[in-house]
Amino acid sequence: MKASVGLNIVVAEDYDEMSKIAAELVAGAVAEKPDAVLGLATGGTPMGLYKELVGLHRAGAADFSRITTFNLDEYYPIQKTNEQSYSFFMNENLFNHINVDFGRVHIPDGEAKDPEAECAAYEARIAAGGSIDLQVLGLGVNGHIGFNEPADCFSAATSLVNLTQSTIDANKRFFESEAQVPRQALTMGVKTIMMARRILMLASGGAKADIVRRFIRGPVTPQVPASALQLHRRVTVVLDRAAAAGL
Ligand code: F6R
Repeated sequence: MKASVGLNIVVAEDYDEMSKIAAELVAGAVAEKPDAVLGLATGGTPMGLYKELVGLHRAGAADFSRITTFNLDEYYPIQKTNEQSYSFFMNENLFNHINVDFGRVHIPDGEAKDPEAECAAYEARIAAGGSIDLQVLGLGVNGHIGFNEPADCFSAATSLVNLTQSTIDANKRFFESEAQVPRQALTMGVKTIMMARRILMLASGGAKADIVRRFIRGPVTPQVPASALQLHRRVTVVLDRAAAAGL
């Protein structure tokens, strides 16, 4: 796929096609650079992408043995064994099914005793890894990326954040009840995300159409954290038709 400088938009027919296009892009980046550093997201949106990557690996078409990964975020506090933890999610949806080296998999530690120290260490690990080659992102209905919620200023480095009610409401579908959704999370900052060499943002479904329009066509504002991506050199946004409806 040819991409020019700035923010490129690809509109797929549906979720499956969006996932296939995204997988081609991720697998292509790894084929080009077998020791690529990938930034990864959780949530409903990238599940199809991960399924495609597992399929490519099983077909012998993708080798992940030399990649390094950094996940965007993790709830806080949460046990890794908790099925709702992002650590559990990544193992279930991707890592257990590909030939990744678990020694090079990084997810913020939701069990850390000192969350601030964990965030500083996580940021340092990303920097030591030579920074992220390709960062996969989903989009919150409130415009968040990672767990960087709408705010008065853009967040910088990885930090402990409070989730907004909108995010708690959006994510309660994964929990037995709203009360079980953790109220805090550890997340890469907007600056951490913006330092990635390349960004792949995915969004699907009509519920995202309004925020897709606002983050791409609206002003760059910390009230819509994803709008910062307008300032990045190399962003590919892959949408399905429903999510692209407002453009
Ligand atoms: C997940 C993450 C979040 C999600 C966003 C969209 O690691 O960082 O920003 O990408 O909340 O979630 P879904 O895909 O479930 O709509």
